[in-house]
Amino acid sequence: MDDVREYYENILAGLVDGIVVVDPKERIMTFSSSAEQMTGFKARTVQQQPLRNVFADEKKLHRLVEKTLATGRGHTDSSFSFKACRWEHRDLGLTTSPLLDRDGNPSGVVIVFRDLTRMKSLEERVRQGERLASLGVLAAGMAHEIKNPLGGIRGATQLLREELSPESSCYEYTDVMIREVDRLNKIVEGLLDFARPVPLHLRAMNVHQVLDHVAELVELEYTGKAMGIVRKYDPSLPEILGDPDQLTQVFLNLFRNGMDAMGGAGELTLTTRILPGYQVLSGDPVKRRMISVEVEDRGCGISPEELKKIFLPFYTGKPDGVGLGLALCHRIIEEHGGKIDVVSRPQAGTCVRTSLPVVAGTEP
Ligand SMILES: Nc1ncnc2c1ncn2[C@@H]1O[C@H](COP(=O)(O)OP(=O)(O)O)[C@@H](O)[C@H]1O
Ligand SMILES: [Mg+2]
Repeated sequence: MDDVREYYENILAGLVDGIVVVDPKERIMTFSSSAEQMTGFKARTVQQQPLRNVFADEKKLHRLVEKTLATGRGHTDSSFSFKACRWEHRDLGLTTSPLLDRDGNPSGVVIVFRDLTRMKSLEERVRQGERLASLGVLAAGMAHEIKNPLGGIRGATQLLREELSPESSCYEYTDVMIREVDRLNKIVEGLLDFARPVPLHLRAMNVHQVLDHVAELVELEYTGKAMGIVRKYDPSLPEILGDPDQLTQVFLNLFRNGMDAMGGAGELTLTTRILPGYQVLSGDPVKRRMISVEVEDRGCGISPEELKKIFLPFYTGKPDGVGLGLALCHRIIEEHGGKIDVVSRPQAGTCVRTSLPVVAGTEP
């Protein structure tokens, strides 16, 4: 008997769906370990308890169980939002089926919980992705239309400027016009970069080469300023699968953000390392190792409220910012199957960590 019991318990424990069995008086007889995980309740504390006491606020659940007991038929509810004690709320699918004894008489109800939280959040991400993609097409179209007349305005302003004498009061207006046109141009360029779907050209590559290249570019930009780049490279870092041009864009943005945060002078630290463990990438049957690149500054830092917004397109905390840098970085890194996250302490500094997949077969 114990063997049989253990056998069934093992089956229950192996199921992803949470299983709860109640007797005709709606007392809990079985509470599987997946049900424990989904609800936060412990089997040993809810065993033998009336379902009503345990799930006190879940009217939908009680209605389905009652209906099943009364009719002897199964029922389903695919949008059951459960307020768990540990999690704030979970989206569960709920199915009740009658449990019949040997003679076909109802002897309880089997309740199956299916966790839909992950699926719902995936659906939401896909929807958001689609929204962004169609916005992108629209934005790219508009950006093109805006760029040409901007070129015309700039050219005309320059001609005007040559006609005017530097003493004329209108002369300095042309400065403003040129400056503002350049600013608009920067926004439009950023928008085009962000909206244009650029196909990735992935190849085995050394991320240190990209970092060194970007470091050179940024050092040129900040010539004459007190800037330093400290490299803490892992010399045994394996090659990654990446698009060098796109990753150059990513690190250029991250370096510039770091320098901006330090008011244009200071030290950036680059740290590369191999991450422990393996990662399954979507659409890839092989588990990959990942490397990480950290770009760290000792700048103004980012407050927790601001941190929630920095990856949104057009979010900027700078008077002359465009707010597309991090949105672009995020997209490029995601397309690489990697991740990007930020830890920051206001007034102390910020560390942006990107992780990227290693080329299959080159894992150490
Ligand atoms: N390293 C950093 N330190 C402090 N703030 C940062 C850092 N990186 C990004 N931010 C904040 O996130 C905002 C968005 O960054 P980004 O998308 O690159 O746009 P932009 O640089 O054009 O403002 C910045 O304006 C800044 O407020
Ligand atoms: Mg930026």
